[in-house]
Amino acid sequence: MQKIIKYAEDNKVRFIDELIELLKIPSISNDPDSKPEMQNCAEWLHNQMKTIGLENVKIYQTGGHPAVYGDWLNAGKDKPTILMYGHYDVQPIDPIELWNSPPFEPVIKDNIIYGRGTTDDKGQFYIHFKSIEAHLKNKGKLPVNIKVIIEGEEEIGSPSLPKFIKDNNELLKCDYILISDTSMYDNDLPSICYGLRGLAFMQIDVTGPNADLHSGSFGGAVENPINALANIISKLKDDKGKILIDGFYDDVLDLSPQERKEFLRLPFDEEKFKKSLDVEELFGEEGYTTIERKSARPTLDCNGIWGGYQGQGAKTVLPSVAGAKVSMRLVPNQEPPKIEELFIDYVNKIAPKTVKVNVTALHSGNGSITPIDTPAVKAAMVALKKGFNIDPVFIREGGSIPIVSTFKELLGADAILLGFGLQDENAHSPDEHFDLRNFIRGICSISYYLDELADLKKYK
Ligand code: BES
Ligand code: MN
Ligand code: MN
Repeated sequence: MQKIIKYAEDNKVRFIDELIELLKIPSISNDPDSKPEMQNCAEWLHNQMKTIGLENVKIYQTGGHPAVYGDWLNAGKDKPTILMYGHYDVQPIDPIELWNSPPFEPVIKDNIIYGRGTTDDKGQFYIHFKSIEAHLKNKGKLPVNIKVIIEGEEEIGSPSLPKFIKDNNELLKCDYILISDTSMYDNDLPSICYGLRGLAFMQIDVTGPNADLHSGSFGGAVENPINALANIISKLKDDKGKILIDGFYDDVLDLSPQERKEFLRLPFDEEKFKKSLDVEELFGEEGYTTIERKSARPTLDCNGIWGGYQGQGAKTVLPSVAGAKVSMRLVPNQEPPKIEELFIDYVNKIAPKTVKVNVTALHSGNGSITPIDTPAVKAAMVALKKGFNIDPVFIREGGSIPIVSTFKELLGADAILLGFGLQDENAHSPDEHFDLRNFIRGICSISYYLDELADLKKYK
């Protein structure tokens, strides 16, 4: 192992140069104009997988953006097979004017790399690539069998991947899935994420009169769709943070006293948290702590709202249409299709008759829980401890990686989520960045992990 760790440190500059190349490719999955860049990125990964020594490397056309696969299966039948998953697609860059450096021209300042995709997820899955390289170049072999799949549609809800997994069940068959696409609880605090939230994403369209109207001539006599929409939104949640949709909480599993106790042991400074966000007071569901609210309880948020005049100065108009995007983060055991239906029924029930209201479900995904009392998780604790010199903590994350539950369903394998990002690295936001210390410590940790996974018996 000494050799492998030294290799990672000696080759750090080259690793980062390669990562910069990857970050320069603007692989924004939701932008139809990016199609050539998605292919370009897939080809870059294809080359890179070959260079580090993977076999059977291939770009798979999925119907949507391509996925890239490679493997190394020569460790022996008695060794476990690990499927490493990551995503090369990134979020859009707007609002572009708020970036301090261009999103696809990465810069490094104080050992932090800035650019779209740095922490979510190119910088993170590249950790896996470089641990594979470190093992193969120094030992000529890997301690376990490895399969790698990097997809290009995670940020748009992985629409093509479930079918790809079904069609390629044998290709992807594995004992465990390894993902680095979450955060560490805090800097210098390596973390094992054992829970992700699910998601149901909705759109509400409200239509009033058949054209924008003069608000003097018509105002007061015709319903304003913005007012009607505001009214609907105000009834989705009460002022104690409880969601008012009938049946919403029916399938929510209560947090066990044991789990709540564990959450309380995580270091959390509420004053520092408020300060970092410039807010005077926090808001959330009554009866739950901030950690529980943001990771283990379901929630509902308006993500966007529109209607009427938004330009400079005043324009007296009674708009014809208004709309909103609403996301609900779900917890494991809540079924997105059921929640979508409850949402649609509820909004239709409370909508005033004075406007037409149309509710659409945009995309969704299941939450997931990984059992933590397993050999693979115990091995991860040891590996992270070796990589960081600190004992890791167990966390749940509020974000979603819907494919995790699909993997469980179709491959029967649990995901081990070892994230090396930080919560304040601006994922999805301007000036996204990634701490390169965690890039290097990540490479060491994953290299150790591959070794630990080779001897799971000792964790039984
Ligand atoms: N890497 C994130 C998931 C994540 C976010 C995990 C925060 C832990 C903390 C992933 O790329 C992501 O952004 N997922 C989307 C899923 C959606 C597009 C279906 C999300 O959570 O909004
Ligand atoms: Mn991600
Ligand atoms: Mn993301």
